[in-house]
Amino acid sequence: MSLFSPIRLGGIDLPNRVQVAPMCQYSSTDGMPSGWHWGHLGTMAVSQAGLVVLEASGVVPEGRITPACLGIWSDVHADALKAILDQVRPQGDVRFGIQLAHAGRKASAQPPWEGSGPLKPDQSPWPTVAPSALPHADGWHVPRALEAGEIAGLARDFAAAAARSAAAGFDAIELHAAHGYLLHQFQSPISNRRDDAWGGTAVKRRRAPLEVAEAVRAAWPKDRILGARITGHDWVDGGLTEEDAIAFAAELKAIGYDYLCLTSGGIHPGQKVPTGPGYQVHLARAVKRNVDITVRAVGMIVDPRHADAVVLDGDADLVAIGRPYLDDPRWVWHAADALGVEIAVPRPFERGRPKLWPGAALRRG
Ligand SMILES: Cc1cc2nc3c(=O)[nH]c(=O)nc-3n(C[C@H](O)[C@H](O)[C@H](O)COP(=O)(O)O)c2cc1C
Repeated sequence: MSLFSPIRLGGIDLPNRVQVAPMCQYSSTDGMPSGWHWGHLGTMAVSQAGLVVLEASGVVPEGRITPACLGIWSDVHADALKAILDQVRPQGDVRFGIQLAHAGRKASAQPPWEGSGPLKPDQSPWPTVAPSALPHADGWHVPRALEAGEIAGLARDFAAAAARSAAAGFDAIELHAAHGYLLHQFQSPISNRRDDAWGGTAVKRRRAPLEVAEAVRAAWPKDRILGARITGHDWVDGGLTEEDAIAFAAELKAIGYDYLCLTSGGIHPGQKVPTGPGYQVHLARAVKRNVDITVRAVGMIVDPRHADAVVLDGDADLVAIGRPYLDDPRWVWHAADALGVEIAVPRPFERGRPKLWPGAALRRG
C-alpha cells in the first residue's frame, strides 16, 4: 500500500490516504460558519485529499475552546454547514468530516492571535467543567467537577451533535478525545483525580470517553466513517503512554470505530514533547501492531515522500497533514507530482497542471 492507494472506510471508498487534519479557524460567531468557511472549504473541496476533517466543533456552546470556534449544538448550525457542503463538495472529489469536541477546562480561551490564554474578565469568559476541579495551569479558570449524573448528559450532547452532523451531510465524524480537552481530561491521570466510578483506575478513567464514544456510534450511520483522535502520550511524568492508547484503541475498535488518529500532548503546559519530523508516527505504529483497526499518523509529516514511506512501511494506513496543508492547499496535487502519480483535478484547473503548462519548470519549489 502507498499514499495514493485507495482505501475503504466505514463503507465509503476514499481515493487516497491523505487526510486534512482538523484545524480550528477561529472564524465563527456564536458557533456559526462564516464567509471564511465558504472560502476555506471551497479550497479544501478541490484539494483532492481523501478526507477533509473540519475543525473541533463544540457540541455545546460552553464546550468551545474560544468564542470564535465552530459549533454544532443546534439545527441552525447544521443547516448552515449543510449549505456550504452542498455547494462546495460537487466541485471536487473530497469527503468531508467534522470533529466533535468539548474543551472542558481548556474552554473559554482566547484565539491564538489574542494570546491563547484564558479569557479575561472583560472578555466574557464562561464557567468551565472538567472531571476534577483542577485548572489547566496557574491562572486558568478553575473548572467545576462534573457530577456523576451529568456524564450521561454529556454523552447525549455528543450523540445529538452526531445526529446533526449526519443531517448536515458529513461523510465522517472524528471524535476529539485528545489534546487536553474534556474526553482526554477524563482519560488522563494528570487531570482526573476522581475516586468514584469515573476515575481512580485506567479503566474507570476511560469510562466517560467510552460512553460518549458509544453514544456517538449509536447516533451515526453505519455506512459513514467514524473515527477518533486519541492520545498516544501525555509527555508528562505519570501521564498516559502508548499502553493506555492501545487499551483505548481496542475498546473503540470493539464499539465499531473505523479509524483512530494517534496524536499526543496538550494535557499540561509542563509537557516535554519530542517534536521533529514524524514525531508521533511511532504511536500510530504501536497501536497498529496491537489492534486490528485502521490507524492514522499525524505530526510534522511535510514531505510527500515521508508520507508515502509511513504507509509503505506499514506504520500507519492514513496520513493526516495539518500545517503543511494550510501552507499549500494543493499539497495532494504536488505530492502526486513528486511521487509520479496521475490524479484528476477539477476541470477548470486542469491547465495549471505541469504536463499541460510549458512554463511549469518555472514553478516555485
Ligand atoms: C491552526 C491549527 C488549528 C488546530 N486545530 C485543531 C483542532 O481543531 N482539532 C485537533 O484535533 N487538532 C487541531 N490542531 C492540530 C492539528 O490537527 C495537527 O494534529 C497538528 O498541527 C500536527 O500536525 P502538522 O504537523 O501536520 O500540523 C490544530 C493545529 C493548527 C496548526
